[in-house]
Amino acid sequence: MSCHLSGAGNAPRPRHSEDWAPLLETWGFDQVVTQAWEGRGRMPARGFCQSCSREDIEAAVRYMIPEHLLDEYAPEP
Ligand code: HEM
Repeated sequence: MSCHLSGAGNAPRPRHSEDWAPLLETWGFDQVVTQAWEGRGRMPARGFCQSCSREDIEAAVRYMIPEHLLDEYAPEP
């Protein structure tokens, strides 16, 4: 939240469709999770959370994406 709440450095803000829609359209959900896992641009790998699993990172990404975009790009199995 220290980075994403403010949107500093272009960090997509939680539940802001205008931030997440372009990313999901461009990359798709799995690749967006991979970019959070591996890091991209000013996004640090795993958000500096060394103890986080990929599932943890995916869950955090799902938390930040608005519901309607999750339904469209990453419906729960
Ligand atoms: C577990 C914690 C975090 C998660 C799950 C997370 C997730 C994400 C995701 C999914 C993106 C979009 C990646 C893409 O472009 O496809 C992103 C971008 C970004 N995040 Fe994070 N983030 C986390 C922590 C952080 C922290 C701690 C910082 C600041 C040090 C940060 C700064 C940024 C920035 C600046 C971007 C935009 C990157 C760019 O466009 O250059 N994030 N993050």
